[in-house]
Amino acid sequence: MSSDLRDRIIPGYEYPQDQDTEVLGIFGNPIKHTLSPVIHDNLSDALGLNERYIPFEIPDSLEDYVNQAYRSGIKGLNITVPYKERVILCLSDIDEDARLIGAVNTLVRDEEKGGYKGYNTDMEGLYKSIIEAGFSIEDKDVIMLGAGGAARAVAYMCAKYGARKVYVVNRTISKAEALTEDMNTIVHDRKEAATTEFIPISQDDYKSIPAGRYIFIQCTSIGLKADDGLPLITDEAFYDMAECAVDLIYNPEQTTFLKLMNEKNIPYINGLAMLLYQGIRAYELWNNLTVSKELAEQVYEKLKLALEQS
Ligand code: ATR
Repeated sequence: MSSDLRDRIIPGYEYPQDQDTEVLGIFGNPIKHTLSPVIHDNLSDALGLNERYIPFEIPDSLEDYVNQAYRSGIKGLNITVPYKERVILCLSDIDEDARLIGAVNTLVRDEEKGGYKGYNTDMEGLYKSIIEAGFSIEDKDVIMLGAGGAARAVAYMCAKYGARKVYVVNRTISKAEALTEDMNTIVHDRKEAATTEFIPISQDDYKSIPAGRYIFIQCTSIGLKADDGLPLITDEAFYDMAECAVDLIYNPEQTTFLKLMNEKNIPYINGLAMLLYQGIRAYELWNNLTVSKELAEQVYEKLKLALEQS
């Protein structure tokens, strides 16, 4: 039997006493370092909406806690590690993109169906951060490093926005094969002309990728800890094929992969803008509104500050 959802609120936050305050939140484990409240509470303050965002550390019994959240009127939730896949079983409906990605990070109340509808705003957030950086996906060739959970949303984004060829390089080739097979099937099943082709590549076979200009997207967890060093491919000459680069990691601000891009004068972004835009998209879904570019920029500055202080 799981405990009361309110007992899962992490220290430093509390459930609003005022009945008129609408509650948003995030479920994950661990969750204490989340920056998401900075995004959502700043949006609510700037837009004058009476809403508070609360992190809940969920140890188990995810379905029970999702049901408790619905019953207690929680308007919207983000879902993070390790529940983005498992939460799909707790929904009353799911957005088509999220279903095909196989991961959900945003839950929106659906009164008619009596539960939450799941979305994946990570994918849209990543795309927006790429466009805002002045990069593009359509008709581009991409090299993805990594084929884990985070890589699925990245691969799907490449298909949705019309990349040409996407090479998925991974240490464990079976995972790259499974991901590329799924994505090729999704592209093939679409009614519109199939444009994107996914090709699996083992880490040791990276030289089989044809010479060309590529968008590099770093989706492995290498670099998350400051001391876990070298990028997936250590041959620096490989990265001369990069036209621009994205690393999903934002802490540290510069992984060794991004340091290398910096040294080579290749334009790059880290994952902080993706974090911002996935949060903004979730907030837009919860409140049925559009956040302006100016407000997005203000919140981004707050996010950078909070990260520096964390
Ligand atoms: P996430 O949800 O962050 O994507 P994940 O599903 O565990 O986490 O995936 C981690 C990714 O980083 C995988 O592509 C993993 O490679 P494997 O599929 O071979 O495990 C990659 N990765 C993590 N540490 C690595 C390392 N030291 N060397 C090579 N690849 C690594």
